[in-house]
Amino acid sequence: MLSQQELKQQAATAALEFVEEVAGADVVIGVGTGSTADLFIDGLARFKEKLRGTVASSTRSAQRLQALGIPVLDLNDVERMPIYVDGADEIDGNLHMIKGGGGALTREKIVASVADRFICIADESKLVKRLGTFPLPVEVIPMARAAVARQLASMGGRPALREGFVTDNGNVILDVSGLPITDAAALELRINNLPGVVTCGLFTQPGAHVALLATQQGIRRLSRP
Ligand code: 5RP
Repeated sequence: MLSQQELKQQAATAALEFVEEVAGADVVIGVGTGSTADLFIDGLARFKEKLRGTVASSTRSAQRLQALGIPVLDLNDVERMPIYVDGADEIDGNLHMIKGGGGALTREKIVASVADRFICIADESKLVKRLGTFPLPVEVIPMARAAVARQLASMGGRPALREGFVTDNGNVILDVSGLPITDAAALELRINNLPGVVTCGLFTQPGAHVALLATQQGIRRLSRP
């Protein structure tokens, strides 16, 4: 029986096949954040001479990439990335996700938006029928914390401030439990539209293109329907 860590390793290794496919001297890869993304970064080290570099979705990932000698570029200097590789806290059959358990949701969404394809890597426990068991992270500008929390409560959620945590952008995170997520795409737009919200952890626009989900029987691959 493989441990969750071994399953994460399998998913991260599977994503390296996509890197192999697209690698080239002018190619930049988008890199996510989290324990599964960390394993992907470690594997990416063997491609460092075959790529122009990477764009990182967090300071944490940038530091890990740099420690391995993998170039990290400013997104402003990059026009195109064939793939963005990242984990998820939950993913459903439409390849919509909840992300932000590590608090890097905003930069993750930005980097992913520039990439042609989002490759989600996770162990199979992250696959859910319906999103919403994992509390939804929402990045909020500090002065709007209480106002946004009231709005989220009026939508049926129970927001809790992530104590002692400041995002790479200098903001706070509200982790929202109990939100009814019947239409994830509509909810993403509605929450993102609240004044003071930087972004919420729903990733539906467009979500992942491919999910590589590690199971005890090997990698299960889902593609966008
Ligand atoms: C960080 C994220 C991560 O992708 C998500 O939390 C999954 O992390 P892990 O790979 O450690 O399970 O969204 O903001």
